[in-house]
Amino acid sequence: MSVEPISPLAPLGVAAALAAESNPSITPHPRIWDEFQLSDRVGLVTGANRGLGLEMALVLLEAGARAVYCIDLPAEPGEEWQAVRAYAQRMRSGARLEYVRQDVTDQAAMWEVAQKVADKEGRIDIGIAAAGIASAGKNCLDYPADEFRKALDINATGALFTAQAVGRQMDRLGTPGSIIIVASVAGTITLKDMKTIPYNTSKSALLQLARSMACELGPKRIRVNTVSPGYVCTKMTGLFIESQPSVSAHWSSGNPLGRIATPDEMRGVIIWLSSDASSFCTGSDIIVDGGAHSW
Ligand SMILES: NC(=O)c1ccc[n+]([C@@H]2O[C@H](COP(=O)([O-])OP(=O)(O)OC[C@H]3O[C@@H](n4cnc5c(N)ncnc54)[C@H](O)[C@@H]3O)[C@@H](O)[C@H]2O)c1
Repeated sequence: MSVEPISPLAPLGVAAALAAESNPSITPHPRIWDEFQLSDRVGLVTGANRGLGLEMALVLLEAGARAVYCIDLPAEPGEEWQAVRAYAQRMRSGARLEYVRQDVTDQAAMWEVAQKVADKEGRIDIGIAAAGIASAGKNCLDYPADEFRKALDINATGALFTAQAVGRQMDRLGTPGSIIIVASVAGTITLKDMKTIPYNTSKSALLQLARSMACELGPKRIRVNTVSPGYVCTKMTGLFIESQPSVSAHWSSGNPLGRIATPDEMRGVIIWLSSDASSFCTGSDIIVDGGAHSW
């Protein structure tokens, strides 16, 4: 099965300028946006029935991806997902949002999902592990074992199975790729006044998971990075805001920009990490938190 090489863009930048200036037949052409193009690429995003996962799935299609497979728990995708799929189809003929019901904690099933995608599409270029659950409200000395294990199982082990699933297909096909794990700034700092030790622990684990995978998979041209958002307005955070309205102001005052993010503010970093624009970036954690970690 042959797949287009992922970086056909060189020379770029100054090298391209010098080449063009020494050869008048080359027409100068801005290349920077070409580097962010995901034309014909195929992505798999977990937790993508809604929230950040759905936002990330859509932006991959906007950047040119052929198909994005959304993995989540409900048997059928929700109304929001259906509307986004209809929008993507109107936006660009052939842009496909696909839905697969799957629990990310089932390793064999996750591997099988990715294998089916790769068999059907002939490639998987991008994998985003966004499925996750929040946990909060209990003292660290009392946190029940089952709740701690559940957070680690979904947030950390599920992300490993997702990264394995897409990485195994990139390896099988011999193609490069980008794996992005959605961690959190809670993996680096402790969220002030939030008693959320399972969540913080699971997100911290993801930083090292990505670094370790990046080191093993670099020779195969598979990049692995984490994105660590601060507070973003989604259903996950909405649950806290509804139960404790003062939380919104508290979170907003916790960063220099003085507000909570909207999900679309993760679009730029996702396209950068998914595309050739970040071709030398692996094993990195990109924090997008309004500066909260700076305080
Ligand atoms: N919202 C924030 O402020 C924020 C900040 C930092 C990081 N994050 C992370 O971003 C990711 C997305 O969060 P969100 O805010 O969009 O939350 P969300 O609750 O809106 O979406 C999470 C999605 O993951 C799915 N999911 C949960 N368990 C699953 C499983 N076992 N298998 C498959 N899917 C499963 C849910 O069904 C849901 O659709 C999470 O990993 C979260 O920890 C969120």
